[in-house]
Formats: sequence, C-alpha cells, structure tokens
Amino acid sequence: MAALQWSEALVLDAPVMDRTHEEFVVLLSEVEDAQDDQLLARWSGLIDHTDAHFSREDQWMQATGFSSANCHSVQHKVVLQAMRDGLGAGQRGDLAFVREMARQLGAWFVHHAQTMDAGLALHLRSVGLDMDTGEIARPDALPVEPLKGCGSAACSTVAEESAAAVV
Ligand SMILES: [Fe+2]
Ligand SMILES: [Fe+2]
Repeated sequence: MAALQWSEALVLDAPVMDRTHEEFVVLLSEVEDAQDDQLLARWSGLIDHTDAHFSREDQWMQATGFSSANCHSVQHKVVLQAMRDGLGAGQRGDLAFVREMARQLGAWFVHHAQTMDAGLALHLRSVGLDMDTGEIARPDALPVEPLKGCGSAACSTVAEESAAAVV
C-alpha cells in the first residue's frame, strides 16, 4: 500500500483544490504501486497532472496580488523541475531514484498542502475567488502591494528546505 492516502487532514475546504489534491494522491499511490515496466509512464502522468495543478495555483496567485517570485510559486517550480529530472534519471535506467523521489514527494506534499496551499486557500477565500470561473467577488480585499510570501507558516526557510529535500 502506498505511504500517502487521501484523508480529512488534507482537506482545505476548497473544492477545486481538494479535488486536484485527491487526484494527485491517487496518481502518486499508483506510481508507488507500479511494476518496473509501468513506473515511468505513471511518473510521467503524475508530472503532467502536477504541471497543471501547480499552474492553476500560480494563476490564482497572479490574479489575486502575489508577485511572480512569491515563495509558493518558486517552490512549485523547484519541485516540478526535480520531478522532470527524476524522469530523466529513470529513463537512463535508475528506477530506484524515481521510487525514492516518489516516497519523498508524498512527505513533501502533506507539508505543502497543509501550509502553503492552506494559506493560499484562505487568501482566495478572503478575496472571494471563484476557483471554477476565476471571478473575484471582493476586489477591494486584494492586497495593495504584491505579496512575496505565501502567507502561511511555511513562508520561511523551512519552505525552501522542504523543497530542497525533494531535489
Ligand atoms: Fe496544491
Ligand atoms: Fe501549491
């Protein structure tokens, strides 16, 4: 059984985000359960899903007052690149590297969802962003200055360290 399972502890009461996160957990568990001849195709599918998942969150941040270099978006970029590097290692025959990265990715994800994504969900709720349409119900609540941090407790060197741990 995969190490990471979907649970109440990961629910952020943000349906679009929660649905995407649940899909991520399922895809990651399928990677962990993969036979060697299935591993890279499943890992590659997880990368595509993660690319769309992170891009959507980055777009929400851009639309609601974050600077493009905010730490949450930077962490997305670092982790996605690490996953692509992992695919490269797997394609060169190092499947153990991909399996280890998948294991670490599960631990990273729990922390990321409960800190940065939780902070983002709160922020999006405060400005009334509709995650389906992108509409902002309370534009007056948007920050005046671009936000560089992510507004969560993870917005510190801890966040950078946790991203670095996946690399
Ligand atoms: Fe997320
Ligand atoms: Fe995120």
